[in-house]
Amino acid sequence: MCTAVGFASKGYNVIASTHDAEKAAKINQGIPPFHEPNLQNLLEKTVQNGYLKCLIDQTEKAVLETDLTFNAVGTPSRPDGSIDLQFIETSSRDMGKALHKKSTYHVVVIKSTVVPGTTQDLVKPILEKESKKKCGPDFGLCMSPEFLRQGSAFEDTMHTDRIVIGEYDKKSGDTLENLYKDFYAKNAPPTIRTTLSTAELIKYASNSLLATKISFINTIANICEKIPGADVKTVATAMGLDKRIGPLFLNAGLGYGGSCFPKDVKALMAYSKNLGYPLKLLDAVEDVNKTQPLKAIQFCKEQLGNLEGKRIAILGLAFKADTDDMREARVIPIINQLLEEGANVTAYDPVAIPVAKTVFQNKIQYATSAIDCLKNADCAILITEWEEFKKLTPEDFTMRMKQPVLIDGRRIYDPKIFSRKMKFVAIGLGQ
Ligand code: UDX
Repeated sequence: MCTAVGFASKGYNVIASTHDAEKAAKINQGIPPFHEPNLQNLLEKTVQNGYLKCLIDQTEKAVLETDLTFNAVGTPSRPDGSIDLQFIETSSRDMGKALHKKSTYHVVVIKSTVVPGTTQDLVKPILEKESKKKCGPDFGLCMSPEFLRQGSAFEDTMHTDRIVIGEYDKKSGDTLENLYKDFYAKNAPPTIRTTLSTAELIKYASNSLLATKISFINTIANICEKIPGADVKTVATAMGLDKRIGPLFLNAGLGYGGSCFPKDVKALMAYSKNLGYPLKLLDAVEDVNKTQPLKAIQFCKEQLGNLEGKRIAILGLAFKADTDDMREARVIPIINQLLEEGANVTAYDPVAIPVAKTVFQNKIQYATSAIDCLKNADCAILITEWEEFKKLTPEDFTMRMKQPVLIDGRRIYDPKIFSRKMKFVAIGLGQ
């Protein structure tokens, strides 16, 4: 979606195709099908100006009327963690059939996250079989992963740190590089041109390292909690000043969620295990991430004892701020465990409540604001670092809660201020 709007906003003619009729209808009315800052205005404008339109299941038309296709279908996890390539297979078949009817050169670019070998060994043979043409002379093929973060996905599209182009042959790579050069003009980021498989691995390696950084700092946070006076925030700030380490992705919290890190770490592990090289390091990264959210329950019990019948206020449902996405959100195991222990849960999130209702139905209560959520609560757990929650003062909690106990799962509150006014417990803060 962000790539489509990005190109359309710069005057390219973009035709999108999806099988989801509801999504297509929204897009064609200029309404983003999910919450993403800065997308709405440009989507509206580009649709109105005719630079972007979305078709329902018309890959053929999209391919015939354009020069290059970005394939961005989902690659979900299978139960064993490996990736499910069924949507890649279907879309490759559709693109191949369209290429069969096409007389001019067209480049297919795989943008979906796929394990090394997928573009070469799965996509290319399907495209060749269906098109009855030869990859290289007849059509081009590239693999170009994206590194967008939800919540800033549009900004990340327009200003990326790097471009990775895995190419089947030089002509395919040149065509895609020229497109990116034209798109980014003077702000063109460093571009890495490489093989299809290396490009595929770059995405997994990047996401796995970021997940590793998070699990690492969470481990340090867990040590800090056992050391009176220690604070993981100070440790992370000091570590981050070392240029070799860098300050980003060292925010300790309740673990990572979302549609990428959990899925990609699992997929790389399954892929590598299959190669005969099980990734012990990522095993540990995953393990830390599994237990980290349960710290919230541990803190809760330390403060309240038995949770049966206790009112717990949950601030934040989305897996991170500025999105309504709850895929693999750390709040899910937390709420499930609270319910298991007999607690009454009331939750609030600025945008994710409609999504949360599909996850928890009526097992929990939904508040209309953060303040409303805190009413009569025995304990509040801050789960998502929304700006709105950062503005809450100690009085907002003390005046409304039955007993003011706050668990800061994302370290957004100043312990010096909050611990003076209430029972304040935070990830990575030695008591
Ligand atoms: C990630 C990658 O950053 C992006 O490059 C890739 O294309 C897709 O996956 P995204 O999942 O949207 O993006 O969000 P990100 O900001 O990376 O956060 C992922 C999770 O890690 C969130 O749950 C977030 O709360 C958590 N996180 C992030 C931390 O716990 N600490 C941090 O320091 C950073």
